[in-house]
Amino acid sequence: MEKAKITLHREFKIGQIDDRLYGAFIEHLGRAIYGGLYEPDHPSADADGFRQDVLNLVKELNVPIVRYPGGNFVSGYNWEDGVGDKSKRPQRLELAWRTVEPNLFGTNEFIDWVKKANTQAMIAINLGTRGVDSARQLVEYCNHPGGTDWSDLRISHGYPEPHKIPIWCLGNEMDGPWQIGHKTASEYGRLAQECAKVMRWVDPTIELVICGSSHRGMDSYIDWEATVLDYTYDLVDYLSLHTYFGNRADDTRNFLAMSVGMDTFIEEVIATCDYVQAKKRSSKKMMLAFDEWNVWFHSNQADREIDPWLVAPPQLEDVYTFEDALVVGCMLISLMKHADRVKIGCMAQLVNVIAPIMTQTGGGIYRQTIFYPYLDASLHGRGIALSLNLSSPAYEDATFGQVPYLEAVAIWNPTQEKLTLFAVNRNLEQELPLIGDLRDFDDYQLTQHSVLNHQNLKATNSFDQPNNVKPVYQVGGQSNNGELATILPKASWNVIILQKTKIQN
Ligand code: AHR
Repeated sequence: MEKAKITLHREFKIGQIDDRLYGAFIEHLGRAIYGGLYEPDHPSADADGFRQDVLNLVKELNVPIVRYPGGNFVSGYNWEDGVGDKSKRPQRLELAWRTVEPNLFGTNEFIDWVKKANTQAMIAINLGTRGVDSARQLVEYCNHPGGTDWSDLRISHGYPEPHKIPIWCLGNEMDGPWQIGHKTASEYGRLAQECAKVMRWVDPTIELVICGSSHRGMDSYIDWEATVLDYTYDLVDYLSLHTYFGNRADDTRNFLAMSVGMDTFIEEVIATCDYVQAKKRSSKKMMLAFDEWNVWFHSNQADREIDPWLVAPPQLEDVYTFEDALVVGCMLISLMKHADRVKIGCMAQLVNVIAPIMTQTGGGIYRQTIFYPYLDASLHGRGIALSLNLSSPAYEDATFGQVPYLEAVAIWNPTQEKLTLFAVNRNLEQELPLIGDLRDFDDYQLTQHSVLNHQNLKATNSFDQPNNVKPVYQVGGQSNNGELATILPKASWNVIILQKTKIQN
């Protein structure tokens, strides 16, 4: 049986992982907020109406940052509707998802929730129907200490301290015709430039994300990035990327190869950023925020059948399969492999809507299959990303060419003296023996190998069977004097941990 081989060395550094790589996204969409984060009548709700069962799973994931409130939703959102006395907040037609928004949860509730979830806020502003004025007022409302109209309004709403929101998105997917207030690259670039300028005047400490293309398949892809960066290069810190994968043709080998396209996407966008940098003779490197990524396709048909103008209907409720978890694992590895440039990642989304956490309104909760690779990456993927000198048997895919069975990256955490190898075996029929030359880590020993696999690629978790798909701790495999030998089961997500050997006295 052909083996995969890797060589690892401390000097093969890609870059330091920014903790925010393991962030998430939550939108006013379906039951993400209402019935997800916020459900005052739920038995587990706290005094603020936040579901504590949800908070517990979010804390388990150790989510470093959460992007809010959209998404397509933000392009029609008046943030003023969601602050102040709840009894006076308007119900509005929400045009992006054709629902009714009750505005019972808004910016301040989100900040309260963020604190309880031990995470950080990343707020998107509306550049669909609004612009410079509402952007500067929102930053003033949130981040200015007090003594001005907007900051005093926040204080009057019960928040004497500024929220100090450190990072802001300049709109959402403004290249897409589906977006409320969709714009050409020049229209958006110019508007974003002025918004960035005045938002920074209000609070010079903030960081900004400019919208890249909605996905790699957009006709305006690359021209869009080059144009919007031409306007804003000096004013923004990150360019956004979005990607959703699906197994619509039920071709799992192709589905598992899609992360190869994610690698290409990231590298093309980096090349474009660097082109604009060169054009501007700038010394600044643009960083990337992959602030929407996931698998999304299971719910497409059901969503077409949902009546419009309901409050919090069950939209985008993908129930994830085991093979989706493998794809999510490959996507996480793709993000880690580009840790030198991708600083922020947001799994889209966090609860109920294409999410790792699923709730029943008024009822229970369970971890979807994709919860596990996300959890593993968030818990063990912090440190320095190391590239692997990798050789692997491969298969041919019509779209992606030669695709290696082994997808992998290593994260070295010198403080914890821990080396973690994340590896997916894309082979659906056979296990993959893995040999590692880890001579530079010959003082480290294999301590744990956890595996997520299942005989049925389409297996899911559910309220009745919440543990149908979950990781197991594999016994076997060894590391001796810097040689690693283990087996990656067929179709599996693997987390292989080595720790520095303690010297016995
Ligand atoms: O996450 C669901 C939607 O996907 C978001 O609202 C939008 O930004 C993207 O198209």
